[in-house]
Amino acid sequence: MPRVLVTRQLTPGCLDPLVAAGIDVEQRPDDTPWSRSELTSAAPDMDGVLCALTDPIDRTVLEAGAAGRLRVVANAAVGYDNVDVAAAADVGVVVCNTPGVLDQTVADLAFLLILSAGRLASEAERDLRAGRRGGFGFADNLALDIHGTVLGLVGYGRIARQVARRAEGFAMEVLHHSRRPTGFPGYVAHLDDLLATADVISVHVPLTDGTRHLIGARELALMKPTAVLVNTARGSVVDEDALVDALEAGRLFAAGLDVFDGEPTPSPRLLAAPRTVLLPHVGSATVGTRTKMGRLAAQGIVDVLAGRVPPNLVVG
Ligand code: GLV
Repeated sequence: MPRVLVTRQLTPGCLDPLVAAGIDVEQRPDDTPWSRSELTSAAPDMDGVLCALTDPIDRTVLEAGAAGRLRVVANAAVGYDNVDVAAAADVGVVVCNTPGVLDQTVADLAFLLILSAGRLASEAERDLRAGRRGGFGFADNLALDIHGTVLGLVGYGRIARQVARRAEGFAMEVLHHSRRPTGFPGYVAHLDDLLATADVISVHVPLTDGTRHLIGARELALMKPTAVLVNTARGSVVDEDALVDALEAGRLFAAGLDVFDGEPTPSPRLLAAPRTVLLPHVGSATVGTRTKMGRLAAQGIVDVLAGRVPPNLVVG
């Protein structure tokens, strides 16, 4: 009987495709993340691993797995920077992910961060809860208008395009940058030009060697001091120390972050940064979307183990 390791607790129904295919599911009773050494020990005895972006599926894990019975890794996420895809290709392990089903949900959250960072919602709420604010004050908690401003999208994949649709409802002018011309209106060839022009900058690129610290001190210095930066992609796309420097110095108005370096533990500097809305990587965290992601990942494993090509193949 095929065996599949499921590394995290998922929402109800996610594992149905595995169960229906008669696959034996191995899962911890609790949600403790698996360490690299635990994954390395477990992988050889599994035909598949259904993992999350918190799992380090590196060369050691993949080589150990492929030396045993491992054939497929399904990452229940659209981003797969936690999986060494070159190593997977080398050892012949198929990798799949879960694009598409989370676009709307992540775009909703990006917009939540655009609004809440721009309107300083977290600071105002903290003030109220701490008893520092008693109610309406004409000149208190003054923030920025988001409607009618210029939105700059860094990356123009599925999620960014959904953010653009929402921005239209806020009468925003939408510009976007990606490495290759998109052919769509609003394309800006040079990232620097986008950063210097936009009032709100929202990051939507995957984390790769080429995008690590794509937004660093130099790029932050190009932004308007009134700009709002939002990141729902991966923390390391933004140089976090440079971002905190800019926020502390008032060289950037506000930041809205769903992702940060060193997840799951934000740095003390980031926690103390002014005018920052900080969320614990909840971009796709709705019951409906997480269930779709889990089922898609499970179905990918079923497909591979049945000799079919899964629809969301990353490596294989
Ligand atoms: C979430 O960050 C994902 O990549 O799905």
